[in-house]
Amino acid sequence: MARGTDALIVDAVRSPIGKRNGTLSHIRGDELSAQIVNGLVARNDVDPAQIEDLQWGCVTQVEEQAWNIGRNVALTAGWPVSVCGTTVDRQCGSSMQTNFNAAAAVWSGQLDLVISGGVEMMSRVPMGSNRGSMSDLVTERFDIVMQGISAEEIAKEWKLSREELDQYSYESHARAARARDEGRFEKEIIPVDVDVPDGDGGGGTATLTRTRFAVDEGIRETTLEKMAQLQPAFTPDGVVTAGNSSQIVDGSAAVLIASEQKASELGLEPRARFLGFGIAGVDPHMMLHGNPEACERALAKAGLKWDDIDVIEVNEAFASVVLQFLADTGLKERYEAGDVNPNGGGISLGHPLGATGARITATLVSELERRNARYGIGAMCIGFGQAIAGVVERL
Ligand SMILES: CC(C)(COP(=O)(O)OP(=O)(O)OC[C@H]1O[C@@H](n2cnc3c(N)ncnc32)[C@H](O)[C@@H]1OP(=O)(O)O)[C@@H](O)C(=O)NCCC(=O)NCCS
Repeated sequence: MARGTDALIVDAVRSPIGKRNGTLSHIRGDELSAQIVNGLVARNDVDPAQIEDLQWGCVTQVEEQAWNIGRNVALTAGWPVSVCGTTVDRQCGSSMQTNFNAAAAVWSGQLDLVISGGVEMMSRVPMGSNRGSMSDLVTERFDIVMQGISAEEIAKEWKLSREELDQYSYESHARAARARDEGRFEKEIIPVDVDVPDGDGGGGTATLTRTRFAVDEGIRETTLEKMAQLQPAFTPDGVVTAGNSSQIVDGSAAVLIASEQKASELGLEPRARFLGFGIAGVDPHMMLHGNPEACERALAKAGLKWDDIDVIEVNEAFASVVLQFLADTGLKERYEAGDVNPNGGGISLGHPLGATGARITATLVSELERRNARYGIGAMCIGFGQAIAGVVERL
């Protein structure tokens, strides 16, 4: 299909990611997101009134994350009521899906300036707390399990040992620590202000201290020996542990997407553009193995091959998912060379479900710039058997 305009990535940013019950557990997700989108428009000198829609990924849409949090982020940010907002749930792929929706709206000429992003405050609104039910017609067809069990099944099917999973995860922390120490995340992180309670001041009143939070909290100084001692998290004789799973965290991320005309009208300098997306549906029991197929589709839409791609971000939902991806795509050497997840991922930084697609996009664009490279792809497996991938080109 001919595209009337590019879907330009003007900028892509994120909050620092907070450990479970850490610094960000003291702020609501809409308020955290409001700081991120306000930071995003401020640093691009965009009047919020120009934003037509805020498309927000969020998986656990209950309590503070209910009531169409996308719209509430725009209102919490103090923006004009004319700025619309919607909330999207494609499970872990939610804010890659909002990238897809926003880019498609721009490509088709329906919208000109959109923010795609997401949030998940897993400390405050625990994963699964929106648990509903599924039809017997589904549960009779498929053995539906939790993601950790699927990660175990993948390890079994692809013959991945505990040592391989731990080695991958150890390296994820090492890469993330190096990226943090070298300041590689500084361009994408918008520092946020959080009122952190100092403890109980008596009579149930805690003193609040305004804290500026700017650095990811989950990255560990660890050793393979310590990791080897962790007990299996999901099955007694399994290989998936707290150390080789994505961390449960809090965070938000946002991407400013514009048509060519809008970018030039507002004098915006785009950093990249979207080239194509791919989604794939796979067996809902094994669930997390669809990344290679989603990438093939996104690459085909972009007219590119793996050899063209400089940087590859594959969400570290579990180490077994990334190792399965590397095995199926034949990209193990590219991983070893540092082209796949060069700055760590969900295992070391954490995986704030609804925010991770936009987080990956921010990290990918920064890394392409750091390398002076051209093409990147971000891919994510998705609960109940899907995957999504998006290809970007640095400008
Ligand atoms: C696997 C899981 C159940 C573990 O939960 P948990 O036991 O509460 O895990 P934690 O991360 O709090 O780690 C527990 C302890 O293990 C140890 N530990 C974890 N990772 C470690 C590492 N890399 N090295 C050494 N010790 C480690 C620590 O002692 C840690 O306690 P601390 O944080 O106080 O230091 C949880 O992280 C999980 O469900 N992850 C997957 C989330 C998910 O499914 N997302 C969707 C993906 S599709």
